[in-house]
Amino acid sequence: SKKLTIGLFGFGVVGQGLHDIIRTKNLNIEIKKIAIKNPEKKRTLDASLFTTDRNEILNDPEINTVVELINDTEAAFEIVSRALSTGKNVVSASKKMIALHLQELLDLQREHGTSLLYEAAVCGSIPIIRNLEEYYDNELLHSISGIFNGSSNYILSKGFLEGLDYDAALKQAQDLGFAETDPTMDVGGYDAKFKLIIAAAHAYGVVIDPEKVINIGIQTLSAYDLQYAREKCLKIKLVPVAIELDDQHVALFVLPKFVKESEFLYNVEYEYNGVTVQAAFADQQFFFGKGAGGHPTGSAVLSDIAALRYDYAYEYKKAKLQNGLKFTNNIELNI
Ligand code: HSE
Repeated sequence: SKKLTIGLFGFGVVGQGLHDIIRTKNLNIEIKKIAIKNPEKKRTLDASLFTTDRNEILNDPEINTVVELINDTEAAFEIVSRALSTGKNVVSASKKMIALHLQELLDLQREHGTSLLYEAAVCGSIPIIRNLEEYYDNELLHSISGIFNGSSNYILSKGFLEGLDYDAALKQAQDLGFAETDPTMDVGGYDAKFKLIIAAAHAYGVVIDPEKVINIGIQTLSAYDLQYAREKCLKIKLVPVAIELDDQHVALFVLPKFVKESEFLYNVEYEYNGVTVQAAFADQQFFFGKGAGGHPTGSAVLSDIAALRYDYAYEYKKAKLQNGLKFTNNIELNI
C-alpha cells in the first residue's frame, strides 16, 4: 500500500481521537501538519506540528491526503474543494458541509480524479456508507431508518432512564463532546437530516436539497409526550427515515417517534446510534454502534484513511443504476 502523508484540519474531539488511534498503530501514515484556529490553546504535541496557515498544507506537494475535521461549514467546503482540485484525496467528517454541497463535491472528484470519503460523517463508528454503497448495490432498499444523532438520543435516555432534565442532559452531551457547537443542529433534527441525506445518496443515488426535507427535533417534545410514552411502555426516539414509495420516488423525513419494545431502536441508548435497513431480499438488518465521541468517530476516519492507501473511492453505483429515482416530499405523515 502507498504511504499517506496527511495534512489534518482541526484538532478538536475527533482530531485528537484520530491522533490517539494513529499513534498506537504502525500504519505507514504520517500526520505532517495540523491546521488549527487558535494557536494559544495548550496542546501536548510539539508546537512545530501546528500551523494557522491553511496554505502550509494545501500548497505542500508532499501532502497527498487531507483530513478535514473542522466546525466551520463554509471554510470546510473551501478547504475540501481546493484539496480535491489540486490532486489530494480527502477524508471528511463534516456532515453538514457534505449534505449541502454533495453535487459540487461529486463533480470535483470526477473532474480531477480525486476521492472524498466520509464514513465518519454518518453515525460515527457504524460503517453504514460503505455498506450501503457496496453490500446493497444489487438490492432493492425499501427503507433506511434509525437513530443518527447521539446528542438527542443521549438527552432522551438521560431523561427517560435517569430522570435528568433536558437542560442538564444537554449540558452533559456538550461536556462529553457529543453535541455540535450550535446544539440546535442536534436537538432540532438538522444533524440527523444531513446524515440521512448522505445515506440516501448512497442508497438511492439521489442528491437532495436539505431545505426540502422536513425535520422536527426533540426540543418540541413536552412532559406530556414523555409521560404518555411511559404509560404505554414506549420510548421516544428521534428517527430519520428514507423510504422508497414506489419505483419512481423516495421520501425523507426526520421526526421524534414512539418506539415499541419489539423494535431494535428501543434499546439504543445514550450516544449510541442504530441503523435499520429494510431490503427486498436480505429483509431487515440492524447496525449498532457509538455515534459520537472522539475515539469512535476517529476510528471511522482512520478506516477511510486506510482505504485510501488502496485507492478506494465511492462509485455511487446506485446512482448509475437508479438515475430515474426522484425525491418527493409529497407524503402524508399523519402527525
Ligand atoms: N453531534 C453529533 C451527534 C456528533 O450528537 O450525533 C456526531 O456526528
